Amino acid sequence: MKSWILKNLRKKEGVVSGQALSAQLGISRVAIWKHIQQLQALGYEITSSAKGYRLVNSPDVPYPWEFADRESKIIYYAELTSTMDAAKHLARKGCPDFTTVIAGRQKNGRGRLNRQWLSEKGGLYFTMVLRPDLPPVLSFRVGLLASVTLARILNEIFGIDVRVKWPNDLLVDERKICGILSELEAEVDQVAFINIGIGLNVNNDPSPIEPAATSLKNILGRKVSIKEILVRYLDLFEAQMQTPAYDEVIEQWKQFTVTLNRDVRVVTTHEVLTGKAIDIDDTGALVLKCSDGSLQTIRYGDCFHQTH
Ligand code: BTN
Repeated sequence: MKSWILKNLRKKEGVVSGQALSAQLGISRVAIWKHIQQLQALGYEITSSAKGYRLVNSPDVPYPWEFADRESKIIYYAELTSTMDAAKHLARKGCPDFTTVIAGRQKNGRGRLNRQWLSEKGGLYFTMVLRPDLPPVLSFRVGLLASVTLARILNEIFGIDVRVKWPNDLLVDERKICGILSELEAEVDQVAFINIGIGLNVNNDPSPIEPAATSLKNILGRKVSIKEILVRYLDLFEAQMQTPAYDEVIEQWKQFTVTLNRDVRVVTTHEVLTGKAIDIDDTGALVLKCSDGSLQTIRYGDCFHQTH
């Protein structure tokens, strides 16, 4: 109902009468008024006069009704421990493909390799529950596609040059703007779900304890719309998951990466390796040429670009 009311208010510049809304939606004018009051309480600036209602301003909050066709699959919380936990719970209960949990802030945001992900207000924090028809060994591609697609969208909207660091951090001028965490549950030969969690620094100031981090606000010198980024991202990413581009993700990733042909240090759960990153294989694993000439394939780890 809220999406319908907003759609009607957004259709016209001017005032929309309560009577017109109630006729269109088939509910009483009192019911319309109640919905308007709820929208106002959520931050929508709607004026009311004898002539009707006028939408003056909308909050930059990714409420479900802002997502047109996917409204029923969007779950928004102003605050949450972690969208990963909420998404896992929903996935195990059988929620549909592309269910997306969003948080305004997280009290216990998680990063890769058991790190904390600071999640203050102003950032974009969400997890998508995905159910691709894939064997677990190829699941890595989904994370790569998620990062490349976000780099594309940020470039399209803001004209900034966003690059990917293996496996799927997004960097602008070598500074981290986004991290992606993937969690998977699978049978031996079939993925049950892959949850992709994305933390994008948008209008927040990354903490000084993360000196190599930046945000869109820091780069552009102004605040930008979290809602617009997410609406456009989910549409493009879902389309990409259904098209042949999904098979070409390794090639796409190579176009966007700044990791290949670089000297890197890779920290895995049990060792630290250094060498030149020369390729990624079909599964997304990093191929490293070590100083003794040997090749090492790394499936999971944290990569640091070396600067000389
Ligand atoms: C990393 O670079 O270490 C990955 C960071 C992933 C952070 C996101 S924010 C949304 C989702 N919820 C979490 O708790 N973590 C991911």
